[in-house]
Amino acid sequence: MDKIVHIKTFGCQMNERDSEIMGQLLGRSGYVRGDEPETADLILVNTCSIRDKAEQKVYSLLGQLRDLKAKKNNIRIGVCGCVAQQEGRKIIERMPHVDLVVGTQQLYQLPVLLDRLESGELSRAVALDLNPVFAIPPFQHLLREENLQKNEKKHTPVQRYVNIMQGCNNFCSYCVVPYTRGREISRPLADILEEVRLLAAQGVREITLLGQNVNSYGKTNAVAPQVTSFPDLLRAVAEIEGLKRLRFTTSHPKDLDLTLMRCFAELEVLCPHFHLPVQSGSSAVLARMNRGYTAEAYLDKVEQLRGIRPDIALATDFIVGFPGETEEEFVETLQLLESVRFHSSFSFKYSDRPQARATAFPDKIAEEVKGERLSRLQSLQNEISLQWNTNLMHKEVEVLVEQVQTQAGRGRSSANQVVYFHLQADQALPVVGDLVRVQIEHAGPHSLRGAMLS
Ligand code: 5AD
Ligand code: SF4
Repeated sequence: MDKIVHIKTFGCQMNERDSEIMGQLLGRSGYVRGDEPETADLILVNTCSIRDKAEQKVYSLLGQLRDLKAKKNNIRIGVCGCVAQQEGRKIIERMPHVDLVVGTQQLYQLPVLLDRLESGELSRAVALDLNPVFAIPPFQHLLREENLQKNEKKHTPVQRYVNIMQGCNNFCSYCVVPYTRGREISRPLADILEEVRLLAAQGVREITLLGQNVNSYGKTNAVAPQVTSFPDLLRAVAEIEGLKRLRFTTSHPKDLDLTLMRCFAELEVLCPHFHLPVQSGSSAVLARMNRGYTAEAYLDKVEQLRGIRPDIALATDFIVGFPGETEEEFVETLQLLESVRFHSSFSFKYSDRPQARATAFPDKIAEEVKGERLSRLQSLQNEISLQWNTNLMHKEVEVLVEQVQTQAGRGRSSANQVVYFHLQADQALPVVGDLVRVQIEHAGPHSLRGAMLS
């Protein structure tokens, strides 16, 4: 009988993809994925440590799992991802209910480590090395097809993530990622193209290329012809048959150049949607963050980009309450938001992170000030997002269908807006993966609603 692995994922798309990879690897060792921790033989917690709040959620779940293991002793519990990398052996020492700790670049060792636990060769397992080579072995993509049915039935098959690089070399002063994911390494081009081809052949319609800093693909540890520049990678992926939409995340403004901007005009499958984290509208704060650009330089790039692709939907990330952030500096962030008018943004209260330089910076901002700044920023963003969405009223939007029910469905526009649609009486229900046209009848700040057109 199949064993059950329950994988709980925290954090970013990178972690979602890592969880998928772990599921695929374990499929080979006779595991199927299950939703209930209570019925699982193995529970893997794929952790995130980007902000204090994310890490606290991980510890609270690990506390609940201690109680579960006390009741059901034959469960194995593993901690993977960024908290595992950061805390390493401390987890094993402090949490006797954890059997296995696997760092961000050791996930493909999972089956071997489990075998060694099962055979009794190890009583508990720890694997934390950060490799100087791309961590996902080239055979990885081959695991997809055979496990797709067994392990991934519930995931929408139309949209997938593909890793193109790992790690980060930027050392923004607030950020833990260079320490948890190691140095930047680009994945060989042939592996990326082969994985995308395989996915497209399986019916996947939309691919998001993933990396901490995708637009520096090929710049570090580059071994031509194994890797190329990011715009050339985009061009090569865009030619793959069957692919209808291409996205990428995340980019660093300092590495955004004209060649990449032009891809948005030249490549039909590349969606006019761009996540370009700005973090702050104050050049002084950006300097303290070690971001490598000023607010003015960011605004210039946005103008250039909109000159090339006027309908591009921009999304961003903001941090409020960075150490020493004055009210005036925060107002500069509001002004930048007013001037760029992002379609959407993620915004966070600054939190200290282990090893990050800003943790030692003076003039930390009080929690209530951070909270107040966050809500001012978010209410301005909501107004702007609502205006963008209201502009689409009575217009037609192309939607990639992700879910269908009786007489209704859900999908996303190329600008990444969530669109709910209903059918007219005589229309045939589309299938997941179809591109349909929807006439917008209702606009909210976070989604659109409308009627499917024949
Ligand atoms: N505190 C708050 N937000 C942070 N981010 C990264 N590190 C921190 C931190 N220490 C945010 C940034 C980044 C996003 C993924 O998380 O906005 O772009
Ligand atoms: Fe969280 Fe960053 Fe690690 Fe992703 S890379 S899981 S966001 S800490």
